[in-house]
Amino acid sequence: MHILIISGPNLNLLGVREKNVYGTGTLDDMQKLAEGFARDNGMDLDFFQSNHEGEIINCIHEHRSADGIIINPAAFTHTSIAIRDAIASVNIPTVEVHLSNIYSREEFRRTSFIAPVCIGQISGFGIYSYVLGLNALATWMKKK
Ligand code: DQA
Repeated sequence: MHILIISGPNLNLLGVREKNVYGTGTLDDMQKLAEGFARDNGMDLDFFQSNHEGEIINCIHEHRSADGIIINPAAFTHTSIAIRDAIASVNIPTVEVHLSNIYSREEFRRTSFIAPVCIGQISGFGIYSYVLGLNALATWMKKK
C-alpha cells in the first residue's frame, strides 16, 4: 500500500513555529512516527512538504497511482479550491489532518475547502494527527 503524506505551507518550521499551538515536535519527528506505523502495517510512505500551492497540486497529480493520501494543507485548507479540485480529480482516498484543533481557534479556520472531498478529517492531536490519519486510512481500506 503506497501512501503519500503532504504537508503544506509553514509546516517546515514545525518545532520552531508557534510552539504553544503546534507543539515542539518537528516534521522529522512526525515522519519517524509515521514510518513506524507504516512498517507495522505494510505501508510504503512518500513525504512531501511545500510552501507553494501549485507544487502541492503537481505532487498530487504525479502520485495519482497512490493508494491513499494524508494531507495537512495548512493555511491552504481555508483558501484553496485548486487543491480541493486536485484531490477530487485523482480519486484517491484522502484524509485531511491538522495538528491543532481548527474548530477551537479563529472563526476563519473552521471552514475547510478540502474536507468535502476527503473520506474524513483528524484535527487536534499534534504530530500524532498524521499517524491517526494513517490508521484511519488503513481501517477505511480494510472495510471497503
Ligand atoms: C494547521 C491549521 C491551519 O489553520 C494553519 O494555517 C496551519 C496548520 C494545523 O495543522 O493545525 O498552518 O493546518
